[in-house]
Amino acid sequence: MLETFNLVIRKFESRDRDEVRSISHDTAFMGQSAGLFFEGREVIGDALNLYFTDYEPESCFVAEVNSVIAGYLIGAKNKITAEKVFRDKLIFPLFWKALKNGTFTNKKNIIFIFNCLKALISGGLRTPDFTKEYPATLHINIKEEFRGKHIGKALISAYLDYLKEENVPGVHLATLSRAGADFFSKQSFQLLYEGRRSYFRYILHKDAPLFIFGKKLAQV
Ligand SMILES: CC(C)(COP(=O)(O)OP(=O)(O)OC[C@H]1O[C@@H](n2cnc3c(N)ncnc32)[C@H](O)[C@@H]1OP(=O)(O)O)[C@@H](O)C(=O)NCCC(=O)NCCS
Repeated sequence: MLETFNLVIRKFESRDRDEVRSISHDTAFMGQSAGLFFEGREVIGDALNLYFTDYEPESCFVAEVNSVIAGYLIGAKNKITAEKVFRDKLIFPLFWKALKNGTFTNKKNIIFIFNCLKALISGGLRTPDFTKEYPATLHINIKEEFRGKHIGKALISAYLDYLKEENVPGVHLATLSRAGADFFSKQSFQLLYEGRRSYFRYILHKDAPLFIFGKKLAQV
């Protein structure tokens, strides 16, 4: 039987929140589950998504295939504003939630946090600032079974159209995923920076590559 493939790209709605958080958890480790390095779906869900879905939902999109959410793109028109909201409003409640949930007593989490702190102290989390020319940012993830079907491309296209309408001059993003890097090159993003991240060395037994891509946007 020939199955129809009906792809719809639409704006994020509050009813999509749980599914977006679920996909983000299941793809957070270079396309694989966050469970490989962290225990606690609620805490990781907040850390990765809360700003985008709750404070700037108008910049988020979902892809539906035959009415099933296949992937999402969560964006922010201005990364500096997003980071300020995260620092001023979100990080403290998130810390308390993590404390109450026992996040900091879980062995897997302790090892991850220890490795992040080690990288932070040694200056290994620094990156150049691209927010002046490329103020917007994004995260995109497609469920494994829906990858390679031009869904990511359609989400990026919808987001870039939206940013142009909003007169945003550029967008940049960071990815640890080589597959992600190949995808963004294919979407005519320019590689702005290439570095390494050490905090997953205890899992990967080597540094992870870090790619920062950017794209300038012609105004409409
Ligand atoms: C990376 C990702 C977003 C791409 O979305 P996708 O729907 O699978 O990709 P598409 O089918 O839209 O691909 C669009 C184009 O990019 C190319 N492409 C996609 N992934 C690629 C890869 N790993 N290597 C080379 N090219 C790739 C496709 O071949 C296609 O080219 P075409 O237009 O000439 O046919 C998706 O695979 C994903 O979520 N991966 C896991 C998580 C991740 O890496 N997220 C990005 C980090 S922010």
